[in-house]
Amino acid sequence: MERPVIALNTNTPQQSLTIHRPPSGFSLRGTIRVPGDKSISHRALMLGAIAEGETRIQGLLLGEDPRSTAACFRALGADITELNSELVQVQGIGLGNLQEPLDVLQAGNSGTTLRLMLGLLAAHPGRFFTVTGDASLRRRPMSRVVQPLQQMGAQIWGRHNASLAPLAIQGQVLQPIHYHSPIASAQVKSCILLAGLMATGETTVTEPVLSRDHSERMLQAFGAKLAIDHATHSVTVTGPARLTGQTVIVPGDISSAAFWLVAAAIVPNSELSIENVGVNPTRTGILESLERMGADIMRENERVVAGEPVADLRVRSSTLQAAEFGGELIPRMIDEIPILAVAAAFAQGTTVIRDAQELRVKESDRLAVMASQLQRLGARLAELPDGLEITGGVPLKGAEVDSHTDHRIAMSLAIAALNAQGTTTIQQAEAAAISYPDFVTTLQQVCH
Ligand code: S3P
Repeated sequence: MERPVIALNTNTPQQSLTIHRPPSGFSLRGTIRVPGDKSISHRALMLGAIAEGETRIQGLLLGEDPRSTAACFRALGADITELNSELVQVQGIGLGNLQEPLDVLQAGNSGTTLRLMLGLLAAHPGRFFTVTGDASLRRRPMSRVVQPLQQMGAQIWGRHNASLAPLAIQGQVLQPIHYHSPIASAQVKSCILLAGLMATGETTVTEPVLSRDHSERMLQAFGAKLAIDHATHSVTVTGPARLTGQTVIVPGDISSAAFWLVAAAIVPNSELSIENVGVNPTRTGILESLERMGADIMRENERVVAGEPVADLRVRSSTLQAAEFGGELIPRMIDEIPILAVAAAFAQGTTVIRDAQELRVKESDRLAVMASQLQRLGARLAELPDGLEITGGVPLKGAEVDSHTDHRIAMSLAIAALNAQGTTTIQQAEAAAISYPDFVTTLQQVCH
């Protein structure tokens, strides 16, 4: 059997990825690891910076997003060693001690960096901060965190009533609030909890549906007093808190593993083992969804590592069936919907994804971009206001597509291209490095 040709054109800053699928067929095989969880990596750097004493981070994601977080917190006074996946040491400066930086804080492409950091900055009385991001981040809504922070007494300025970066923050003494968030967003929840660490009294966030709970787990491990009410999806932090540096072991990112789960499911005769993947139940919607479609996925060696559930995942190819997705499942697989759409394009029948309007305000409008780019490959699908309707089983044909600088779109299209006839070129494929710098190398390794 011939292997697919997978070539990254690195001659220009905007890299294109070409994938040529051999007519004779091929398979995906091997045992791989995925890079560290992005959400946990950001939180480990941030909590390490504001804790007292040293934090040791093993398995940090070396993608561009955590690099943005590290650069911001260095500018705010924390001592963070050079980033590597073995061990990063953070010398914490203690809660309330972030320094006024000499320049604008640059969050790059990372919504998590900007939104979580905002909660901390707003609570530093007498200090002034400015924050911004790249073109994508400057288009994304910040009012979802600015408004609750303003209710706590924060002073924040920016375009469109302080809803778009760049933002300027004059730190204040914040008051605790009970915030009923209209959206299930871990970034909103975490921003308010971080601000609440420094407000005297009880700050509570109630969300409509539970979002990822990495902040809650890590804050407790660092010594914050948290009360969690599972029945109402509420978390309360009591301030002022005191955090102590910890050892954080970052598991592999299930959002990165998702590309391999779908790839091995749809490419015939494939079998992949993905070791050391975080399987926190607030993140495993993609496993449940693929299983509902008939994917053959086994969880092996389940264990708990530094407060987070971890497992090895074994996936074998199978015939997928269409299914309908919506409701509480969506926040538990919010970043995996682009790759789920690829799985649906190869499933029998019509898959409907609903309640996913949040995808419109991610790194790109992921509903519009996935619809237009999969259509270029010949997929039959319709864009819904809050989701996608995809009729699978129509053979895809190689074409030129574009990531729209969105890392998860770039990788989802690469997996679709593996199963499309002929040659596909993905423009702006360098975006993958935001969360998965070695994606193309691993893709080359597993194709046989
Ligand atoms: C994240 C939360 C999610 C997710 C993002 C990372 C986090 O965003 O899409 O990739 O680390 O808290 P929202 O909170 O906006 O849903």
